[in-house]
Amino acid sequence: MKIAMVGSGYVGLVSGACFADFGHDVVCIDKDQSKIDLLHDGVMPIYEPGLDALVESNVKSGSLTFTTDLAEGIKDAQAIFIAVGTPSRRGDGHADLTFVYQVAREVGEHLANDAVIVTKSTVPVGTGDEVERILADSGTTHQFSVVSNPEFLREGAAIRDFKRPDRIVIGAEDEFGRNIMREVYRPLFLNESPILFVNRRSSELIKYAANAFLATKITFINEMADLCEQVGADVQDVSRGIGMDNRIGPKFLHAGPGYGGSCFPKDTLALLKTAEDYESPIRIVEAVVKVNESRKRAMGRKVLEALGGADTARGKKVALLGLTFKPNTDDMRDSPAIAIAQTLHDAGVEIAAYDPEGMEQAKPLMPDVTMCSNPYDAIEGANVVAIVTEWDTFRALDLNRMKELAQDPVLVDLRNIYQPSDVRSAGFTYVSIGRD
Ligand code: UGA
Repeated sequence: MKIAMVGSGYVGLVSGACFADFGHDVVCIDKDQSKIDLLHDGVMPIYEPGLDALVESNVKSGSLTFTTDLAEGIKDAQAIFIAVGTPSRRGDGHADLTFVYQVAREVGEHLANDAVIVTKSTVPVGTGDEVERILADSGTTHQFSVVSNPEFLREGAAIRDFKRPDRIVIGAEDEFGRNIMREVYRPLFLNESPILFVNRRSSELIKYAANAFLATKITFINEMADLCEQVGADVQDVSRGIGMDNRIGPKFLHAGPGYGGSCFPKDTLALLKTAEDYESPIRIVEAVVKVNESRKRAMGRKVLEALGGADTARGKKVALLGLTFKPNTDDMRDSPAIAIAQTLHDAGVEIAAYDPEGMEQAKPLMPDVTMCSNPYDAIEGANVVAIVTEWDTFRALDLNRMKELAQDPVLVDLRNIYQPSDVRSAGFTYVSIGRD
């Protein structure tokens, strides 16, 4: 089957490469000429483990191509995916659908055969109806169906998530749409991945409900961690104790500095905007958004406390290890590290940082931070070392070397990746999240 993927960002590129790997004939389309040029040269515009090899092998076999020409790219495609960005609209947090609607208009203008138009971008309830209206208004004489097929992949584990999904959600209103989507996902269906067929609006809402639920789960354990610190409990034991209940489950119960990234912050806000528009408030998500925002700054204050308090922090030095919102990505969007660095900078603290992949992206966001070429350079002369992102490389730091290099042996571990007894017996003052 020929598939066109309009938008070659994170979701579009990973989905396109995986569909090609399943044996479909895929064209990835993007307006950005420089991105397409890079892809033609085998250079990935994002860091995602395994993506370069997957793209390379499918380009070689001829099943994956790239173009900036939408009319040419969608020709003969039975499924045309819209996978463009839906950033937060300035002012009200609603998802900005400009790019989605623009693609829908262009598709309508150039449609040259019957096709299913699939929104893979995360779009608010009702967006599919508007895409359908735009296509109908284009005056196309070809049969078309607008389907919602949200994507649940995680950055850093995107290929595995795409190829072995917990479920595939398809929101379709007619048999034409459902049949084409069955064909698109046949290789996964054979792999026994469950496919859930629902109506389009339910499918659109499932994506937001899933992300809002996960954001709530994280925020719950984060607040539980704060309480653990007050009452002398250990949040990792509490997570294990509740996670063993099958109804709760052990995943997404790691306490930390607050969630970030390109999805949870934007999607929770967009869900709240939808709830407001329909006068059906989701107060629990309102609280989650507020708690998470204030948590990021609170983490900066936690580091300041480890320095001896804000009043005496001026001129002291902190080493930040990890800047991206999570490991295995170079994505800095809404990373807690940004608020932490800002809080420290406001108190007059000097910051040296190291991140395995994110420093290029981080530089413009934190211009006062000195970027170092390895963790130990950042640690040299530091009064506090703070682990912000749990990259594997930080899990086995040489504590003796750290102690020699640092001005003071103080480790603030915002991801709980060390055993308190190990760090303390190496002579450090150790502060973590929700543990003594
Ligand atoms: C998230 C969802 O997990 C995906 O299912 C979804 O497809 C994606 O958003 C999206 O909407 O496109 P992602 O943003 O890549 O994926 O990252 P996650 O692995 O979910 O982590 C999000 C944030 O939560 C990170 O800042 C992470 O550090 C934090 N987190 C996660 C915790 O603090 N504790 C946890 O236990 C888990």
